[in-house]
Amino acid sequence: MTTLAERTRLITPPGTSKMRVLANELKAAGIHVVNFAAGELDFDTSPVVKTAAKAAIDAGRNTYTPTLGLASLRKAVAKRISARLGVDYAPGEVGLTAGAKQALYNAAMVLLNPGDEVIVPQPYWVTFPTQVEICGAIPVFVDTRDNGYRLLASSVERSLTPRTRAIIINSPNNPTGTLYEERELKKIARLAIAHNLWIIFDECYAELIRDGHQHGNIVQLCPEVKERTILVNSFSKSLALTGWRLGYVAAPEAVIKAMENLQGHTTSNPNSISQYAVEAALADDDTAFIDEVNRRLQARLLLAHELVTHMEGIVAAPAEGAFYLFLNIQSKIGRRFGDVVVRDVDHLCELLLSQARVAVVSGSAFGDASGIRVSYAISDDDIREGLTRMTEFFNSIH
Ligand SMILES: Cc1ncc(COP(=O)(O)O)c(C=O)c1O
Repeated sequence: MTTLAERTRLITPPGTSKMRVLANELKAAGIHVVNFAAGELDFDTSPVVKTAAKAAIDAGRNTYTPTLGLASLRKAVAKRISARLGVDYAPGEVGLTAGAKQALYNAAMVLLNPGDEVIVPQPYWVTFPTQVEICGAIPVFVDTRDNGYRLLASSVERSLTPRTRAIIINSPNNPTGTLYEERELKKIARLAIAHNLWIIFDECYAELIRDGHQHGNIVQLCPEVKERTILVNSFSKSLALTGWRLGYVAAPEAVIKAMENLQGHTTSNPNSISQYAVEAALADDDTAFIDEVNRRLQARLLLAHELVTHMEGIVAAPAEGAFYLFLNIQSKIGRRFGDVVVRDVDHLCELLLSQARVAVVSGSAFGDASGIRVSYAISDDDIREGLTRMTEFFNSIH
C-alpha cells in the first residue's frame, strides 16, 4: 500500500470514546456497567424541536440550504446572541455548523498558520490540541490545576511568546465542570488586545449552570474584544440533540466569510431538518426545557457530591456548570488494589471497569494524569449504584 499523509499521525481517536466503546461491549455481553463516560445529556429533546423536525420532513425540506445556514436562522441566532450579551451581532457575523466541533475546526483552519502558537488551558477538551496540530500550529498548555482548575491571566501571560496567535477558552469547562472567573476573563481580554491575539471562546455549556453560579462571556465582559473573538456554541447540549449536529459560531464578518468558503468545500450546510427544528425552538423562546434540565442536573449533582464525600483521598474540582465531576485520584496511583499496583490513571480506569463495572473517562484524554471525568447526566439510580461501587473500589486501594 502507498503511504498515508503525514498528518494522519497527528490524528488519534478521541480518548473520550475509548471507555464508551468498552462499556458498550460489556453491556452487549449482558453485564451491567454504570456508564459515567458519556458526554451528552440523557434527556429527550424538547417537544417543540421534535414537532418542527417532523413538519420539516413532511414539508419535503430536503434540499441544500445556504452553506452557513438558513438566512432566517442566522438572523434568529444573531438576535439571540445580541440580546444575551448586550453587544450587537449582525446575521453576517453568525454561521451555523455541524456542531460546535465544526465551528472550532473552521476557526482553526481560517485563523492559524503553521508554526503559530495557541494557548490551551489544561485540562482541555480532547479535540482542541488535535485541531490546532492539524493546522500545523502548536498547542501551548497552561495548567489550571494549581489554581483549583480556574484559568489565571497571569499564567496565560507567562506562556505568551511573539509566536502566540490565539487562545482557546472553554467555560463552563469540559472536563472539569468549572467556570472561569469573570475577573480573570477580563484580564485575559486585555492581554489579547495588548498582544493582538484571537480568542476562541467555546461556551457550549453556557446554558447548563448550577445553582448560585453565573457564566461570564468574554465579549459581554469586555466588548472591545468582539473584533478578535470567535464565539463557539452549540444546540447539542442545551437542546439535548447531540446527534442532530447543529452548532454555531459568531465572529467578525471576514472570519465568517472565510469559514463559509471553507465549509462550502467540506460539508456544505449543516443538516437542514435540524435547522428548521432549532429555528422553531428559538422562535418559541420558552425556557421551560432548559430550566427542567438544570433542575434535574442540580439534584443529581447534590446526590453525586454527597456520595463522593465517602471516597477516601478523592477531591472533586468545583462543579459549577456542564454536567461533569472531575475527581482528583492522584492519591491512588502507585498504591495496591489487592495484589495489583495501580500504575497510572489509565490503569485505574481499566480496573474501575473490570472490577467495579463502572466506566469513566481517564484524565489522560484531557492532558491530566491525576484526574478522571464522571458525567452526572445519568439516572439517579445509576449515580447511586455507580458511585457506591466506585467508593468500595477506591477505599480498598491501600
Ligand atoms: C467543550 C466542547 N466543545 C465542543 C464540543 C462539541 O460539541 P458538538 O456536539 O456541538 O459538536 C463538545 C462536546 O462534547 C465540548 O465538550
